[in-house]
Order: sequence, then structure tokens, then C-alpha cells
Amino acid sequence: MKIFKVKDQVEGGQKGYEILSEKMANGAKTLGLATGSTPVEFYKHVVASDLDFSDMTSINLDEYVGLDESNDQSYRYFMNEHLFNAKPFKVNYLPNGKAEDLDAEVKHYDSLIDENPIDFQILGIGSNGHIGFNEPGTSFDVTTHVVDLADSTIKDNARFFANEEEVPKQAISMGIASIMKSKAIVLMAFGANKADAVAAMVNGEVTEELPASVLQNHPEVYVIVDEEAGAKL
Ligand code: GLP
Repeated sequence: MKIFKVKDQVEGGQKGYEILSEKMANGAKTLGLATGSTPVEFYKHVVASDLDFSDMTSINLDEYVGLDESNDQSYRYFMNEHLFNAKPFKVNYLPNGKAEDLDAEVKHYDSLIDENPIDFQILGIGSNGHIGFNEPGTSFDVTTHVVDLADSTIKDNARFFANEEEVPKQAISMGIASIMKSKAIVLMAFGANKADAVAAMVNGEVTEELPASVLQNHPEVYVIVDEEAGAKL
């Protein structure tokens, strides 16, 4: 893992953007994308840039079950707002949280990932060490799956909803095995509530109890942290 300590989220977004630019200059065609508050500044840098995505494919990590793209808390809505409206891609894939047959949707998403190997993956990290929505205890071998969200994740994400009751209890998430197949991974973390998870990810035991620790086994991971998130490194 290569660790970059930055001043704040703006500088972190700039660093992530620089790595992306370099990868695109070297032929990256498929981007694995993430939502949440962490990559917002990264997307701002991308939107302000002259990078062209019209020949690119994106595959997002996850989506809440039950929310469609008109819901402003859906991850499709987030991606439209923060990136896709400003930077059109050839195609954008996200799991369909409104799919009637979730098993079929999960299989379909796995086939999309197989057909479009990810060159560059952006990740945030949950305060419990989750990546995507792969909660503690998830097998490292899992591919796309339906997840029952951890109580801590529901609490963490309640800030985006009117109240905790409105946070969906399930999501569809790309699995850890798929994330690990990405050629290069940039994980960003900002703020004191990520410090324990970041320290365990970088220096702790590789364990399914801390999903992000699996990244120690990946050959090309860039970790971008601000002072607070990196305080325990
Ligand atoms: C969310 C997402 C993750 C994200 C993480 C951290 O629930 N599923 O992809 O990285 O939790 O969120 P935030 O960036 O808002 O702290």
C-alpha cells in the first residue's frame, strides 16, 4: 500500500484525480466508482478537468435496495449529480435497487463486471472498515450480493436521510473478490471517525472482520488520508 497524507479532503481529491489522470493517460477504460461523502471533492476535480469520458465505462460499487434513480438518496442520483450529468460516459452501470428479482440482478451485475474488468477503482471506507457495502464478517470470496446493512452503517448513513427509519436496510454490493480484481485501487478516508478503521486496514491483521484489511493483499493500492483519518498510522 502506498500512503499519501494530505491536508484535507480538497487536497485528497486532487491527489486522487492526479492518479486517475495518469491511469487514463495509460489506457484505463473502465472505472469502478464509489458514492458517499468521501469522493465528493475528487468528483469536483474530475468535473472541473478536461478529462473526456465519452469512451469510458463506469461500474459503481453499490446501490440501496428499494430506491430508484429519482430518489435523491439513491446512488444513481448521487452519481448523476456529482459526475455523470457533467461528464457523459459511454455507459454507466449501477446495481438496480428496484429490481424485482434481486438474485437475477446480482448475477447480471457479476456478468457486467466480468465483461468490463475494472482498471481503476475508487473506494471510501466505513467507520467499521467496510468497503462498498461489504460489512464485517463478509467472505473475501464473495462477488455481487444482497447485503443486510450493519446497524452501525445505518446509523452512519442516517445523516443523509430525514431519520434513521428511512435508511434502507439492504443494499446490493459488488463483492470483495470483484473489488480485488481491479488493477489499481485508490482508497480515500477523511475525518477522525475513520482513524481506527484506517489503522486496522493498514497495520492490522488481514481479517474478514475488517473488510478493508484485504487490500493489504492487493499489489497496487493508494491510500489517501487527511491528518485526522491518518492519526493512528
Ligand atoms: C457508504 C458506502 C461506501 C462508503 C462508506 C463511507 O455506506 N456504501 O461506499 O465508502 O459508506 O461513507 P462516507 O464516504 O460518507 O463516509
